[in-house]
Amino acid sequence: FTHDIFTGQNVLITAGPTREDIDPVRYISNHSSGKMAYALAEAAVEAGARVTMVSGPVTLDKPDRVKVVDVISAREMHDAVMDNIDDIDLFIGCAAVSDYRPVEILKDKIKKDPGNSEEILELKLVRNPDIVASVAARENAPFVIGFAAETSHVIEYATSKMQKKKLNMIVANDVSDQSIGFSSDSNEVTMLAEGMQTALPKASKKVLARKILNVASRGYHQWKSH
Ligand code: C5P
Repeated sequence: FTHDIFTGQNVLITAGPTREDIDPVRYISNHSSGKMAYALAEAAVEAGARVTMVSGPVTLDKPDRVKVVDVISAREMHDAVMDNIDDIDLFIGCAAVSDYRPVEILKDKIKKDPGNSEEILELKLVRNPDIVASVAARENAPFVIGFAAETSHVIEYATSKMQKKKLNMIVANDVSDQSIGFSSDSNEVTMLAEGMQTALPKASKKVLARKILNVASRGYHQWKSH
């Protein structure tokens, strides 16, 4: 791992899950722990970058020398990213953003119908903004790396996400394997870019973060020189 691959570069990383309120006591979220993103933030600092991380609710300690902006919902994450995007050279969308949120947040706690144990409660959801795609669609967009957590057809789905969202690179991982991904301390990924595919074998998220940045730096510096 080279310590100066991102010297002087500004890196923005999204991390963790988002949480979408249903009513004052309930929410929708997912199993993201934030470990991969926090490891990337630490590795990016080691690589010489100035690092900002917009983080959803996680239980991890804040990494040293990283500006952390805490958010809860996808819309807050989107706004915090847009507030910090100017001057960013490299954007890494590592957050597991909730794709949907309830149409409205109810002011009062939802009550069970006491007379009807067969009751079916319907929750209406709307789409959240796609943060990584909005960043990639900007004029003078930074170099954008996305993540794709898939349970099948991993390479195929990740490639199609990269193209649809106009990402420069995507890091694909198979979350159907319990020993990697989500809360696990280790991971195994395949990095994809146009005409490039690099498999990174199973390793701790800390070790893997450095390897991901190494591969990313090659793509980044090539892109920057054009
Ligand atoms: O959820 P999906 O599999 O489409 O996520 C792929 C990439 O898009 C990830 O990098 C994720 O952080 C990003 N994403 C996002 N905003 C969303 C959904 C996904 O930035 N609303």
